[in-house]
Amino acid sequence: MPVLTHYLRSQVALAEGDFAAVDLMLPHHLHLPLSVLCFNAGKHVLLEKPLAAKLDDALKLLAAGREAVARGQVFMVAENSQYWNEVRCAKAAIEKDRIGEVLSARAIFNGTFTEGDDARTETADVTKSYATLDGEGGDAEKPWRFDAAATGGGICIDGGAHWIRPLRILMGSEIKEVIGVCQRPFDKMEGESLGRALLRFESGRVAYFEATLGEQVYGPDQSWRVLGTKGEIVVDGDGVRLYSKEHAKGLELFETPPEYQRLTDLGVDISFEGLAMPLAGYHASFGHELADFADVCCRGATPSVPTDSKLSQSEHALGEMCTALALYRSAKTNTWEAVWPQTGLSPSGVQDQRVISMILNSSHVTKHLVSDLAPE
Ligand SMILES: NC(=O)c1ccc[n+]([C@@H]2O[C@H](COP(=O)([O-])OP(=O)(O)OC[C@H]3O[C@@H](n4cnc5c(N)ncnc54)[C@H](O)[C@@H]3O)[C@@H](O)[C@H]2O)c1
Repeated sequence: MPVLTHYLRSQVALAEGDFAAVDLMLPHHLHLPLSVLCFNAGKHVLLEKPLAAKLDDALKLLAAGREAVARGQVFMVAENSQYWNEVRCAKAAIEKDRIGEVLSARAIFNGTFTEGDDARTETADVTKSYATLDGEGGDAEKPWRFDAAATGGGICIDGGAHWIRPLRILMGSEIKEVIGVCQRPFDKMEGESLGRALLRFESGRVAYFEATLGEQVYGPDQSWRVLGTKGEIVVDGDGVRLYSKEHAKGLELFETPPEYQRLTDLGVDISFEGLAMPLAGYHASFGHELADFADVCCRGATPSVPTDSKLSQSEHALGEMCTALALYRSAKTNTWEAVWPQTGLSPSGVQDQRVISMILNSSHVTKHLVSDLAPE
C-alpha cells in the first residue's frame, strides 16, 4: 500500500517528499513562482492551464521550463481538451475527408454555477463554488477566479481555453488574429464573464468563439460545429455526429464500446469516479492527459500535441492564452489583434529573439519573483 504524506508548505514538500513529479493546480498568478520552485527542486512538472496570468510571466516560465528540460526534466502544460475523445473522434473524421475541406467552425462554452442532476434548474451559491485567497493577500469574500489579477482576465483566458484548443485542432491551422467583444454581465466577476469573437486562422478561414459564465440557466448547446465543403460535424453532450449528403439526418461517429455501454445501461456515470480511464465526456480527458504525462516522465515518450506545431508542448499552450489576450486588446481597440507576435514565438517555429530578450530582461528576474511570491 502506498503511504500518503501531507505537507502544508510547498518548500517542505519539495525538500522532504519522496516524489519525482508534481501536478500544479493553482491560481494563475502563482504558476510562475511555484513552477520555478519545482524546476529548481528537480521535479517533473505538469502545470494546469493557462501558463500564467500575464504574458511576460508565461514567457519567463517557458524560459525556466526550457532550462529544466535541458537538465532532463519534463515540463508539460495540462490542456486536457486535446485528450478529449469526442474532439479526437471529430478530428479523425475530418482527416478521413468526411466533410471535405474545413471552411469554418464554431465553439460555444457556457460555464455555469448550476449543479445537481437537473443542472438547468438548480442554482448553486457562486461564492462557495470557487476557492478564495484568504490569508494570502487575496479577498476572503471573493473567489480567486473572479479576481482579474489572479486569473489574468475572465472566462476567456480560463475555461475558454478548453474550447479554443479544440478549435485549433479541428480547423487544422493556427489562430492568427482575433476581433471581438468582452462584457461583464455577471458583476461578481472582475474580468469578462461574456466574450464573443471571430478568430481568423493562418489558413484564412474564420471561426466563431463564445464564452459565458454566470448564474443563469442555459438552453442546450453544441460545443463545436465544424463546417466543411461536403458536410458538417457536430460535437455536443450526446457525442459526435456527421451530417452529409449520405447522412442528412446525422450519423453517430462516436461509438461507445460495449463494456462502457453496459455500465451506462446500469446507470453508472462513466465520466466520473470509479473508472480510471472512462471513455466519453469532458472529464474522461483527464485520465488520458495524466497517462501522457506519466509516459513522458517514466518512459521518455514524446508529449502528444495533435498539430503540426513546431513549438514544444508547453510553448504550444501560449496559443489559447494569447488568443484570449488578443481578444482583450481587440475589445478595447475594436480592431483585429494579432495572437503570436508579442510572444516572440510562432507555431511555425520562427523565433524573434529581440522580443524574447526584451521580455525576459524586463521587470523582475525569475529568482526574485520566486522569493517574493512563493509560499513558505
Ligand atoms: N482542465 C480543467 O478542466 C480545469 C478545471 C478547473 C481548473 N483548472 C485549472 O486548475 C488550476 C487550479 O484551479 P482550481 O479551480 O482547481 O482552483 P482551486 O481554488 O480549487 O484550487 C487552488 C489550489 O491552490 C492552492 N493554493 C492557493 N494559494 C497557494 C499558495 N500560495 N501555495 C500553494 N498552494 C496554494 C489552494 O490551497 C488550492 O488547493 C487553474 O490553473 C485552473 O485554470 C482546470
